[in-house]
Amino acid sequence: MGGSINRMKKFANFIKEKLQLAGFAGDKEVSNLSRTDRYVIYKIGKVLTVSHGIGVPSISIVLNEIIKVLSYAGANEVVFFRVGTSGGLGTEPGTVVITKKAVNGSMEPKYENMILGKRFYYPSDLDSKLASQIQFCSQTDVDFPVIYGDTMCASDFYEGQARLDGAFCEFNEQEKMTYLKDIKKAGVCNIEMESLCFAAMCRKAGISAAVVCVTLVNRLKEDCVTLSPEDHEEYQLRPMKLIIPYIINHLLKTQ
Ligand code: URA
Repeated sequence: MGGSINRMKKFANFIKEKLQLAGFAGDKEVSNLSRTDRYVIYKIGKVLTVSHGIGVPSISIVLNEIIKVLSYAGANEVVFFRVGTSGGLGTEPGTVVITKKAVNGSMEPKYENMILGKRFYYPSDLDSKLASQIQFCSQTDVDFPVIYGDTMCASDFYEGQARLDGAFCEFNEQEKMTYLKDIKKAGVCNIEMESLCFAAMCRKAGISAAVVCVTLVNRLKEDCVTLSPEDHEEYQLRPMKLIIPYIINHLLKTQ
């Protein structure tokens, strides 16, 4: 799963190429199987590639629907990945972060959902064995930096991620930097908008899951993403490149 419709179509074609080479997919053209225009689903061999939109409410709907579909299909030994983009804390843009645990803006590893007027909390730890298997691939299969650390999940792109350049701002540059440095010290490597819900829902469903996001900006230096279109394009493929060896291995083991 990843946020954008276009990115996931690109991933579908990318994974088709790799799975074909490994004998796990035919040459059928990838086509969108989703009946809603809210998200796309591509199926390449045993791999589903799904867009989840932006933020927790959007990903929670898609996760509910995909988890139900896989359950009706009798799918087992399923592994979920969120491959996305994020803002980094002190790392060069293009660095890929494998999430240790997802935390909220107060550094708590729990996802809050309001159900029938009551607050429910779900732990947001991820599968550490899966994370280390992906990290292992990074030692041989890729030529970009990969790190392992916590990911902060914010409920908006601007103030929720300590940005000063939105339409509103309740804090100043100094308060922003104090916050970002504090969360970095607490173990946060990057900030995005879906990991908390993704981790908690997969955990609740008993699904092994990993969050792998590339950083597009160093938030200790700037708020805006200032990458060239070429770098932007190439960086967005990095999380996908990182998980493909794992996917091929998993298919070999479970075929
Ligand atoms: N996505 C986010 O949520 N934040 C960033 O800074 C970049 C991408």
